[in-house]
Amino acid sequence: MNAIVAVCEDWGIGHKGRLLVRNSEDMAHFVRHTRGATVVMGRKTLESFPGGKPLKGRRNIVLTRSRGYAPEGVEVAHSVDEVLELCAGDDPESVWCIGGASVYEQLLPHCGRAIVTKHACTRPADSFFPNLDADPAWHVESVAEGGVTEEGIPYSFVTYVRA
Ligand SMILES: NC(=O)c1ccc[n+]([C@@H]2O[C@H](COP(=O)([O-])OP(=O)(O)OC[C@H]3O[C@@H](n4cnc5c(N)ncnc54)[C@H](OP(=O)(O)O)[C@@H]3O)[C@@H](O)[C@H]2O)c1
Repeated sequence: MNAIVAVCEDWGIGHKGRLLVRNSEDMAHFVRHTRGATVVMGRKTLESFPGGKPLKGRRNIVLTRSRGYAPEGVEVAHSVDEVLELCAGDDPESVWCIGGASVYEQLLPHCGRAIVTKHACTRPADSFFPNLDADPAWHVESVAEGGVTEEGIPYSFVTYVRA
């Protein structure tokens, strides 16, 4: 499994259920990586999507502790173990953990790679991704300049792999 995430300089990823930075090129980057693959997310992240609808063209697995939760177009898992069972037959390279904070934290130990869009700014945040720069278990494999967002914020695509 791999993780894909967009962060600010302090590894903030969200505030009040929303993303911190609008970046249409990063959205396209996200789609390029996850198209046709399996995406695993928390219930709050699903509900943050337009209309609370799953992502098209991908297998959507959603974590919740609620037994009655069964939105259309998603497979529901009630634990990390259930996620791993549901993905057991998939190519690990085509299973993507897509957030939010609680799910990144729990699934990161199962991820071999993390693709991180780093925005050169900080924003008020209440959700964070673990700081991979401070974790000796991870190292940077590659950095690609991304350009600037529509709001003028420079960003880069950094790929981390397990050391
Ligand atoms: N920047 C990015 O790349 C990015 C990506 C995704 C999300 N985000 C942001 O992250 C924030 C949301 O993160 P979050 O941590 O608050 O929510 P989340 O991880 O999306 O969802 C949390 C929910 O997932 C379920 N869950 C988590 N662990 C579980 C487990 N082990 N077993 C069963 N269910 C489990 C629970 O659902 P129930 O309450 O239904 O039991 C929990 O309340 C938002 O601000 C969003 O915009 C940012």
